[in-house]
Amino acid sequence: MNQTSLRERLLLSTLPEEERESGRRLLSALALIEDKLRLVEADLERGMRSTVPTISLIGDYLVDGGGKRIRPALLLLAARLFGYSGERDVRYGAMLEMIHTATLVHDDIIDGADTRRGRATANRRWGNELTVLFGDFLYMKAMEIALDEGDLAVLKCLSDVTLAMTEGEILGAERRGSVDLSLAEYLEVVRRKTALLFAAACRIPAYFVPGAEPWGDRLWEFGLSLGTAFQLQDDLLDYTASEEELGKPVLSDLREGKLTLPLILSLPAATRAERRLVEKVMTDGGFDSVPAASILDLVDRRGGMTRARALLEEWAGRARDAAEGLPAHPARDGLLLAASYAASRRK
Ligand code: IPE
Ligand code: IPE
Ligand code: MG
Ligand code: MG
Repeated sequence: MNQTSLRERLLLSTLPEEERESGRRLLSALALIEDKLRLVEADLERGMRSTVPTISLIGDYLVDGGGKRIRPALLLLAARLFGYSGERDVRYGAMLEMIHTATLVHDDIIDGADTRRGRATANRRWGNELTVLFGDFLYMKAMEIALDEGDLAVLKCLSDVTLAMTEGEILGAERRGSVDLSLAEYLEVVRRKTALLFAAACRIPAYFVPGAEPWGDRLWEFGLSLGTAFQLQDDLLDYTASEEELGKPVLSDLREGKLTLPLILSLPAATRAERRLVEKVMTDGGFDSVPAASILDLVDRRGGMTRARALLEEWAGRARDAAEGLPAHPARDGLLLAASYAASRRK
């Protein structure tokens, strides 16, 4: 991956004006790990290969499709913060991206999603059957990489996190179509399905970089808050970004029957008729009888977006507070900037 594609990945141009300067500083922090990110990319390509051609085909398609590689970047920055110069961080970075990719391909099947990263999902191209199996392959491939590294503490952390992510997807799936999802239930799903993998990304270097072990809990706390902010912004973007920025249609979550933060914070103040509009979109699975604009109006009228932004800023602030307590280093600046980026990104 060259510097230009790194820039593209970070989508500097899509950051709001007031965030451009910190976006530029984040880019320069990422220059610290640029060579390693390139190695992660090579590892990923290798890891997706199999003597079964369909696996290599789907794997190439997904690696080529891009993705921000934020989880490997966090792991590499955390390792760098403690002066690491070996190659275990690269292996673990690629491994995390594989777990992430496995959850995405399964998530797209569950959500019935047709587009991701601006193009057809794997399930749309290869069907659910092959895509489920491809996801299974990736999970085990990731575990094999971790097993080869031979660090049981890392393996334990990964298996705990992966189990909790699956539980999170199940909890989310069970509450699909419900307008009664509470804020606490929603945040629990977010913690499991997204934040824990960010936490693992940040903490893993503490298991193998000499001297980093005492910082493990703080790195974990940082990753949890950052991952939460990241998912909250993902959910907000579904309401505010363009289809081009999202790489998928707007208001996909509601269409998929998923109630997320802006509506969760709007519904307590909503009228019965307004609640019915929301329910109708979920049962219809689209905006044929209730236009998307009337949902956006509702959220606006009931102050859901303003409150959602405030909560997002709270989580990003928690992440920055945790990062401030880490040793001063250019890599720590990168982690701090990542917290701002998570809350202001448009992609
Ligand atoms: C998407 O994650 C799923 C969420 C946790 C919101 P990313 O936004 O990191 O996805 P890619 O890898 O960059 O496409
Ligand atoms: C995040 O949930 C997916 C996982 C962490 C497994 P979403 O359903 O919100 O992710 P997108 O929006 O499809 O990327
Ligand atoms: Mg989804
Ligand atoms: Mg989403």
